[in-house]
Amino acid sequence: MALACFNLLFRRRRRPRPGRDAGAGPTPATSAPNSNTGLSRSDDSGAGQQTSKSSGSTSSQQSIPAMFEERAHGLRVFRLPELRAATNDFHRMLKIGEGGFGSVYKAFVRPADGKGDKITVAVKRLNQKGLQGHKQWLAEVQFLGVVEHPNLVKLIGYCAEDDERGIQRLLVYEFMPNRSLEDHLFNRSYPCLSWNLRLNIALGAAEGLAYLHEGLEVQVIYRDFKASNVLLDKDFKPKLSDFGLAREGPTGGNTHVSTAVVGTYGYAAPDYIETGHLTTKSDVWSFGVVLYELLAGRRSLERSRPTGEQKLLEWVKQYPADSRRFNVIMDPRLQSQFSDKAAREIAKLADRCLNRQAKERPKMSEVVERLKEAIQMKETGKHSASSKKSKRGG
Ligand SMILES: Nc1ncnc2c1ncn2[C@@H]1O[C@H](COP(=O)(O)OP(=O)(O)OP(=O)(O)O)[C@@H](O)[C@H]1O
Ligand SMILES: [Mg+2]
Repeated sequence: MALACFNLLFRRRRRPRPGRDAGAGPTPATSAPNSNTGLSRSDDSGAGQQTSKSSGSTSSQQSIPAMFEERAHGLRVFRLPELRAATNDFHRMLKIGEGGFGSVYKAFVRPADGKGDKITVAVKRLNQKGLQGHKQWLAEVQFLGVVEHPNLVKLIGYCAEDDERGIQRLLVYEFMPNRSLEDHLFNRSYPCLSWNLRLNIALGAAEGLAYLHEGLEVQVIYRDFKASNVLLDKDFKPKLSDFGLAREGPTGGNTHVSTAVVGTYGYAAPDYIETGHLTTKSDVWSFGVVLYELLAGRRSLERSRPTGEQKLLEWVKQYPADSRRFNVIMDPRLQSQFSDKAAREIAKLADRCLNRQAKERPKMSEVVERLKEAIQMKETGKHSASSKKSKRGG
């Protein structure tokens, strides 16, 4: 699939094996599930808390693992034979995707109460063995077990068992019939994603991030925002998936979390790549990248393009939002079916998200407000856009 994603550290394919975070403590605890939840927490799992610039960092704030222990009663614990049967022994015909962390299968499982028809789910089987694989799995279970928002994918349950093939770590999600934003935006075998859908997807994804940053007792940094992690339900409503790299934000007056750099090339903020200092503003940068991908219908990195057009952010700089030739960057597949005014506003918003100074980037709640305003512009702008004879680049 994507050529765009080059992992920053220790990555095999497109996705990182999260490296041991720089601020991490000693070797993580055992990978054996604990007796209450089937889960244990390792010290440098994504849900762990490592802050830097310590200023007396004791905090009354709850941690994700603690919140998980309190709240995640709704998660189902699946047995491995059940998931084997549900995926026809992980048959390739039922495989719907593959990322750097594992393969995803469409499957049918019995409802929680055992009554009625089977329900469709997506089963992700992690392919990384040992502690790293366990930590990613654990982070995802703990974060998704705690968060609850219409724009975050719902985790139905999990499975952690060992069999003759070794440690098996699986996650069972609600099934998202329209796959990912990446598929619809860049795969030419899908029909063009309309302007209205693009705006609504941007808004929903922004609301999901705003909730993680500002709507929970604990601040959550998502760390892997990109088009392939924005899944689409039957109505094209976006939901963020993949919490294997998510981290708790800084607490107790600290400004950032220190981590090893993981994420995806083309989406990660330069300040994070350079320093390993992670803040919510790292996610805001990645959101800015995806905004430009939505406008241009181009991946953040495309090696197949002519030199000068391979890096989306460098290419779009030549056509600023208030310039006469701005429309050159717009996706030609949209065929002028978009609001010129709104598109320019969104480019300006993206530029603010892509400020080199992390502090100057807007909060996600502000991004949400600006996107709502842009959506309001669509009717008046549409006419002006279609009446323009702008030359479009391809
Ligand atoms: N809950 C789901 N419902 C339907 N399809 C899904 C679901 N989760 C994942 N997929 C599909 O599986 C694909 C692979 O997902 P996965 O998260 O493993 O990798 P990725 O996002 O493509 O890459 P990366 O590993 O870098 O995140 C997705 O692009 C999507 O098409
Ligand atoms: Mg993914």
